[in-house]
Amino acid sequence: MSELFTLIPNTLVLHGAGVLEQLGTEVASWKCRRALIVTDPGIVAGGHVDKARDSLEAAGVAVGIYSEVRENPDTDDVAACVRAARGIEADVLIGLGGGSSMDTAKGANFILTNGGRMENYWGVDKAEKPMLPFVAIPTTAGTGSECQSFALIANAETHMKMACGDKKAAARLALLDPILTLTQPESVTILTGIDAISHAVETAVTKKRTDVSFECSKESFDLLDSSFERVLEDPDDMEARSKMQLGAAIAGVAIENSMLGAAHACANPLTAKFGTPHGQAVGVMLPHVVAANSEDDAVANAYSDFYEGDLESRLAGLLENSGLETRLRDLGIAESDLPDLAEEAAKQWTASFNPVTADTRFLEALYRAAW
Ligand SMILES: [Fe+2]
Repeated sequence: MSELFTLIPNTLVLHGAGVLEQLGTEVASWKCRRALIVTDPGIVAGGHVDKARDSLEAAGVAVGIYSEVRENPDTDDVAACVRAARGIEADVLIGLGGGSSMDTAKGANFILTNGGRMENYWGVDKAEKPMLPFVAIPTTAGTGSECQSFALIANAETHMKMACGDKKAAARLALLDPILTLTQPESVTILTGIDAISHAVETAVTKKRTDVSFECSKESFDLLDSSFERVLEDPDDMEARSKMQLGAAIAGVAIENSMLGAAHACANPLTAKFGTPHGQAVGVMLPHVVAANSEDDAVANAYSDFYEGDLESRLAGLLENSGLETRLRDLGIAESDLPDLAEEAAKQWTASFNPVTADTRFLEALYRAAW
């Protein structure tokens, strides 16, 4: 018997302008009394943390704040967040921010409730004990972490990203409030938007895809593709912001069920070795991944069902119009770096889900095409 689909096991998703105000009553209804908000200084400055705290306190929930989240969180960040949660004896964790805030909170939840080290949870369903309720409140339209059970945490020494997934780690509540995305710097809107688009595209064709996950990928791409350029033209277009946020979350559901592919496998070493932002790294690879995967007829057919038109040029166009770099050579990467990058990319878990076997040779060819 094969598993048909799980979608998201445990997450109530509320979507709409102003839903952040419901945070306190929802959390109080679970009998939680002490919340730790996990966030970064930019989100504090944007005023969102105050709003979340007011809502919680009005419902009788005490609030602690951990605001030291960094991009691409590692095991040291998780340890610091765990100390903050223990300090207030938190009985609920709230990830408020981009994927890094949500991942840091999720990672801390493993250690707080199940002990040990992050490495113990690398993979799927390794936690044995129940975990604390977790609320995901994204302020970007990007990772879709709010609809996934995975925490992406880098090893602080090796920088290798560990995907630690467990159904118990999925958010109990995800609040998608498009008002929160209005304060992002334009560069963040661009990078997270391209990332979300890449999630829709990569999940559509992976080896693990199902009919249901494919529909999520397609719905998500329709929402993102029709609103990304609108948001860049008019950052205050709430309808487009709202569609971006929903599209990113639905792409998260697709990832939960079908994983990712070669563009993400290639992106991780670019981020680890050269500090290339994730959205830039995945965006520069994606059109070439679509071209290479399309050599396989079955995958080419899946892309045609996914998008009417020339997907590769549409993706290249979105990248170019967003102002991101379109070639690896313009990102400070030398041609001589490509073989080592391909070795690293082949070790990435996501490579194993690409519909066409992504061995070192295949991945090096992708890097050369993108160079
Ligand atoms: Fe991504």
